[in-house]
Amino acid sequence: MTEFTYQEPLLTLSNVSRQFEGELVLRDINLQVRNITRPGIQQGQVVGFYGRSGLGKSVLSRILAGLLPPSTGTVEVGTPAHPVRTGDVGFVQQRYPLFNHRTLLDNLLVAAARKHPAAEAQARAESFLERFGLAAHRRKFPAMLSGGQRQRAAIAQQLLCSEHFIILDEPFSGLDIAMIDEVKKIIVEVTTLHDLNTVIIVSHDLTTTTAISDTLWLLAPERDAAGQCLPGATITEKHQYNLAQMGLAWQPGIEGRPKFAELVQHLKNEIRQSL
Ligand SMILES: Nc1ncnc2c1ncn2[C@@H]1O[C@H](COP(=O)(O)OP(=O)(O)OP(=O)(O)O)[C@@H](O)[C@H]1O
Ligand SMILES: [Mg+2]
Repeated sequence: MTEFTYQEPLLTLSNVSRQFEGELVLRDINLQVRNITRPGIQQGQVVGFYGRSGLGKSVLSRILAGLLPPSTGTVEVGTPAHPVRTGDVGFVQQRYPLFNHRTLLDNLLVAAARKHPAAEAQARAESFLERFGLAAHRRKFPAMLSGGQRQRAAIAQQLLCSEHFIILDEPFSGLDIAMIDEVKKIIVEVTTLHDLNTVIIVSHDLTTTTAISDTLWLLAPERDAAGQCLPGATITEKHQYNLAQMGLAWQPGIEGRPKFAELVQHLKNEIRQSL
């Protein structure tokens, strides 16, 4: 098994809950992402985040990104740890927010210029256009792009301007197979650029996401002793999977392994039961 050690925490959620007008959506979530180091390898962390539709994945993502305050509890990010502020965490939302009055290229340049000097920003934006198959559309405005093109543009935009954290809400939906492979490759690349880089992938595509994750979170309602669902969804310890410990992380072609297929099947069953 691959050698690895856990270092300092990069992201900590303590007792996070959220309600909307009396309706409890998230209940008492406690999570931590720690820096993983492996001898001779620089790599960040990838978290796959699953759960049935409507349970609160996007709400928790907005809380993680500092865009929505929790009703109770705290979110701390970074080293040294501090309460999350808007802008600490890049967030590609399910609806892809681009500047509609700017061309695709300009959208990416604005993002890149937040982190890099002009010449480098230009080079990075150009390289992302190529990688994502968008170079031919650089002069188009967002309204002229296809859904998949807009999505890739939004992912590129966040990758260009984020510090170490990025949340991708449904990055694979609506993409063709070649583009799924490309987005997967780019996510892995981003996490190998710096060992503090952390990508959280919210997805219903378990096979694609699990294959590149080293941790999984599964959001589900919890049942009381009588088998009744408690209000709100949470991520219990049992639903925090450590793929590194299971020997299912960082291996190209992992999808073909029987143990991987078993885990995906198990996850599907857990998700089906979380009604
Ligand atoms: N601003 C809001 N006011 C009231 N209820 C809200 C608000 N935002 C979200 N909710 C509710 O919170 C619940 C969780 O929504 P959320 O968008 O997080 O689901 P999700 O897990 O991301 O689902 P999907 O997989 O379909 O994207 C839903 O019942 C939704 O109606
Ligand atoms: Mg959602």
